[in-house]
Amino acid sequence: MQLKISKTKQEVALNFSRYLAILISSRETVHIALSGGSTPKIVFDELATNFQEDIDWSRVHLYWGDERCVAPTDDQSNYKMTRTHLISKIAIPKENIHRIKGENDPEYEAKRYADLLDEGLPKVNNIPQFDLVILGMGDDGHTASIFPHEIELWDSKKNCEVAVHPDSGQKRVSLTGKIINNADTVVFLVTGASKVEKVTEIKNKTGNYKSYPASLVNPSSGRLLWFLDEDAAGLTSNQS
Ligand code: 6PG
Repeated sequence: MQLKISKTKQEVALNFSRYLAILISSRETVHIALSGGSTPKIVFDELATNFQEDIDWSRVHLYWGDERCVAPTDDQSNYKMTRTHLISKIAIPKENIHRIKGENDPEYEAKRYADLLDEGLPKVNNIPQFDLVILGMGDDGHTASIFPHEIELWDSKKNCEVAVHPDSGQKRVSLTGKIINNADTVVFLVTGASKVEKVTEIKNKTGNYKSYPASLVNPSSGRLLWFLDEDAAGLTSNQS
């Protein structure tokens, strides 16, 4: 795992935005799976504010790595967050937006989205391949919506699975390890001191790292980057 450490969350957003602009300029068409969460939100604001001239969004197809099973107008919706902070502010064709429809029956939507990936993405190893999958990591080590209590979903033979949040019981539709580890590149965006323990265990392969779904992210391409701030990387002096 390649670490890209920045001093602050804002610098993570700037450095990842620069990385993304270069990646998008290097390919005619770019299929990207987005993450929900607080760090991606800061990245979306950075992209919308400071990278308007640097990115040709008509090249980009946006998908989601996971979605809460709620309406797209619900404040819990990852799509709504992305629409508010990015999509509504950039010139991207609406046909390039492929949201997971949280308003649908979860099992139906997991199948519909799995089929959409099979039909819409290029295949490598006979598996749909994203150019880039962007992930966050929860304080519990979950990624996308694969949580530790049902980590077996990671190894599903399906492209997508229905997951359940361990505390709220909220249903989610999530990509599985089959898709995530087949991506050309996977980037984690992880910031904040609450992540340092899990990041350290995963990086050093110590403690209970094997029980964290985020530790299972290991794309066969070998291109796995962690964009971290110093808090998450354990480089700030106020670590307890
Ligand atoms: C979601 C996200 C989830 C997120 C982590 C980290 O739908 O909640 O996809 O996997 O990335 O919970 O969230 P933070 O970046 O806000 O800590």
